[in-house]
Amino acid sequence: MLDGTPDNGGDSASQLTFPRRFLWGASTASYQVEGGATEGGRGPSIWDVFSGLPGKIHGDATGEVACDQFHRYPEDVTIMADLGLPAYRFSVSWSRVMPDGKTVSQRGLDHYRRLVDELRGRNIEPVLTLYHWDLPQALEDEGGWLSRETADHFAEYATTVHTALSDRVGQWTTINEPFCAAFLGYGSGIHAPGHTDYASALIAAHHLLLAHGRATRALRAQATPGQEFSLALNFSPALADGHGPEHTEAARKFDGIHNRFFLDPVLGKGYPEDVLADVAHIGGLEPAIKDGDLETIAAPVDWLGVNYYAPTRVEPLDDPLAPSNCPLPGLRGMNVLPPRGRLTSFGWEQTPASLTELLRWLNWHTGGLPLIVAENGAAFDDIVDADDRIHDPDRITYLAEHLRAVHAAIDGGADVRGYLVWSLLDNFEWSMGYSKRFGIVHVDFETQRRRLKDSALFYRDVIARNAVPA
Ligand code: NOJ
Repeated sequence: MLDGTPDNGGDSASQLTFPRRFLWGASTASYQVEGGATEGGRGPSIWDVFSGLPGKIHGDATGEVACDQFHRYPEDVTIMADLGLPAYRFSVSWSRVMPDGKTVSQRGLDHYRRLVDELRGRNIEPVLTLYHWDLPQALEDEGGWLSRETADHFAEYATTVHTALSDRVGQWTTINEPFCAAFLGYGSGIHAPGHTDYASALIAAHHLLLAHGRATRALRAQATPGQEFSLALNFSPALADGHGPEHTEAARKFDGIHNRFFLDPVLGKGYPEDVLADVAHIGGLEPAIKDGDLETIAAPVDWLGVNYYAPTRVEPLDDPLAPSNCPLPGLRGMNVLPPRGRLTSFGWEQTPASLTELLRWLNWHTGGLPLIVAENGAAFDDIVDADDRIHDPDRITYLAEHLRAVHAAIDGGADVRGYLVWSLLDNFEWSMGYSKRFGIVHVDFETQRRRLKDSALFYRDVIARNAVPA
């Protein structure tokens, strides 16, 4: 178990110190950084196919080359070592280790073994995510996440990767942000595979959670002592725009479908009754839930990955049945409002207090489950300056404010064990292509040259001191 022993003895007027052995690191995901899309025997994923469709991605970009980490991982690991990163969270491409989703490719597994060995050689802890949205296209052709069998295939795949890397990887995350995979992939359709049907989105969500539960059970059955299992959920706390029951109700609806719908079943609480009522008119979900599914989904996790970027502001509509401007299943009688205050280049607001509140609420709602901020960061329009440096004070401000917010949550009793910045590198930002830069390391996508941004130097300092400036 990661050690969450508080050690705030170093707090002073000038800095806030984190607990001893707090896990610092950076995150990426396979399709966003790897490239090498047709190399090493890799099969196509739904993101190769989707990004190949005209008009789906900003600038019609694809992840075919991305940051070329498939070839450049030794250089990237050296950068991580130079930054003093204790951990690297990355994901495995399912279609690299099983090109058709079912048949094992030793070459694919070998790639991740080499990456992990490189990390271990530099004392960097690998935090491995098994699914960050790149389903093998062959499985999509058989129904994708609308098919229950995909959850079985996922458990097989997870077992295969675990068997191959169990001797060198201790931290395992099954699925990253099932919300996005289901609701953006099958509801709004802005992500692969691009379906637009709310009933499908709910069914896909259930099967993704089922896949998490099946894989967690299977991996635990063959785990070695000390290994830990988790999943990463994206939370956006709902901020009501006023007082009164209709505002509370608007926030309840958004929080329900965005946050609790995914969290509660994992915690063994089942799907929240209020959300089931909100989505009942859509249909599809309840028939997909078979006997035993909720028990499977409730397979215990050792920690919860918390991905947080921004809250969402909401307001009620006069007519409780009026369609919402927010494309999530079941939302009616409320609208999402424009973000306020300072925005990132993605147009997301910067509200660190919501992160403190979220972590404290999670501590209470989960009964003290260990938490790791598995993603947090910001996109800004970085430019390489005349001095060949990238001065990104806005990102430094964002990170410093959010780290103080994490510290405040720990002070308030939340068992937060780590923080993994999104992202190590500028990368393929899904439907936004290469237009949104989240990295603390700049990537020139023409030359693949990496340059440390000022925020990387700031983060290096935070890690070295185990503290953030107060
Ligand atoms: C969450 C996702 O996990 C990651 O893939 C994405 O790039 C970031 N959010 C930023 O949008």
